[in-house]
Amino acid sequence: MSSYPWAPGFIDDAHRPRIVTSRFQYEDGYTLERYLATGGYAGLRSALSRTSAQVLDEVKAATVLGRGGAGFPAGTKWGLTPAGVWPRYLVVNGDESEPGTYKDRLLMERDPHQLIEGCLIACYAAGLSQCFLYIRGEMALAQERVATALNEAYAAGYIGRSILGSHFSVDIVLHWGAGAYVVGEETALIESLEGNRGMPRLKPPYFPAAVGLYGKPTIVNNVETLANLPWLLTHSAAEYTAIGTETSPGTRMVAVSGHVRRPGVYEIINGTTTFRDLLYGDEFCQGIRGGRQLKAFVPGGGSAPWFLPDQLDLPFEAKVVSAAGSMLGSGAVIVMDETTDIPAAALTLTRFYAHESCGKCVPCREGATWLERILERVVAGRGTARDLDQLLEVGATICPGAFPHASSAGQGIEAVPFPYRMTTICFVGPSAYVPVHSALTLFRDEFEARLIKRKLIPVSAGVADDHG
Ligand SMILES: Cc1cc2nc3c(=O)[nH]c(=O)nc-3n(C[C@H](O)[C@H](O)[C@H](O)COP(=O)(O)O)c2cc1C
Ligand code: SF4
Repeated sequence: MSSYPWAPGFIDDAHRPRIVTSRFQYEDGYTLERYLATGGYAGLRSALSRTSAQVLDEVKAATVLGRGGAGFPAGTKWGLTPAGVWPRYLVVNGDESEPGTYKDRLLMERDPHQLIEGCLIACYAAGLSQCFLYIRGEMALAQERVATALNEAYAAGYIGRSILGSHFSVDIVLHWGAGAYVVGEETALIESLEGNRGMPRLKPPYFPAAVGLYGKPTIVNNVETLANLPWLLTHSAAEYTAIGTETSPGTRMVAVSGHVRRPGVYEIINGTTTFRDLLYGDEFCQGIRGGRQLKAFVPGGGSAPWFLPDQLDLPFEAKVVSAAGSMLGSGAVIVMDETTDIPAAALTLTRFYAHESCGKCVPCREGATWLERILERVVAGRGTARDLDQLLEVGATICPGAFPHASSAGQGIEAVPFPYRMTTICFVGPSAYVPVHSALTLFRDEFEARLIKRKLIPVSAGVADDHG
């Protein structure tokens, strides 16, 4: 078990399979020299020795699930581009801004050539002629490392015309974002790349695979999704699917933050590792800090409905977590111990989404702001019982018939309609409400304890006690 000073936040156990973090152990893992010395670009060579269709079939057979949030299989997505429409683009989503999530940043900082090789394999398999690598504005080191790696790879003939003497040519363009959360949504990212304000497009009718960047078929993939490909091509779909479960093969990176002894990023086995393993296991987070009790945890980034301690034994399996009322989302677990001020925690998350709302649709622009203001009042001890009802009412204008919440002791676990029923164009609106809904339904007593207690004097005679 090691923690590397040059990869802060990453904690490694040599006993687990490492598909995407194998080079984090090297201080110079980001250089071309180290990359080549550790098997780098062998996956690309393997891909180029086969036909594009064969590579696509290999990726489909491995069921490489998207790691950006929705978990859509990469090979299936690549197959959705319409026949005979050119050019086609690959857009790499490196905008990572979901609260609690910081795994893609490490992949870009520690092993940029692995990402570049993954992009090249994807372009070859899906017939994409140009790749745009979009990195979040604040990630200065990631931008620097990826830019240097691109220059190295161009100079060595891995990118550009007739790659490695083949008929395959592709260019990769690096684009720096300006630091907007909503631009992580794929159509907003495409708008941003086109030079427009980063606001999501309505879909349907057109999904990026059909009509994307500059109106052309575009595949948008997450950094970690693509980082899986070099390993897959130097091994095989059979070896990939031998790890994890049938519906969640391979590994996935999970960023843990909050009140655990060892927060950090871990590469865990998909499908079988449980939240208890991750939060309490010796090779992972080693329990709650200060020996305290766990109060709640967010299983998949700030947008995900919260879980209670009796849901610790659920595995990192999308279908199971969805059936229990939440999602694995962006690979981030936020841990809250018994000392957590729940209304304040909900406010922190809701404030983030309200701030990041692009304002294109009313329920999100107005609703998220209302949620934030009402919560601020409650947290400050100036709220009334009416405010609590109003939080739910405003939430219902964003997510009509708000999703059921898994209750404690395994009761009331119902399937969540995912994606959420929502009145907004993208998930930012629901994300502003999810923390409120979770906090208020699971810990209502903490909100009620904060309400202002005042006596109302009726217009008619007499004095009545009233809490609202
Ligand atoms: C508000 C919002 C923010 C998102 N942010 C990211 C992000 O930072 N990184 C990412 O890969 N996907 C993000 N997504 C998901 C992308 O829209 C898209 O589904 C993903 O990049 C596809 O890649 P994958 O199939 O490899 O997972 C976000 C979605 C929404 C609605
Ligand atoms: S839900 Fe919010 S962030 Fe998304 S398009 Fe509508 S206003 Fe913009």
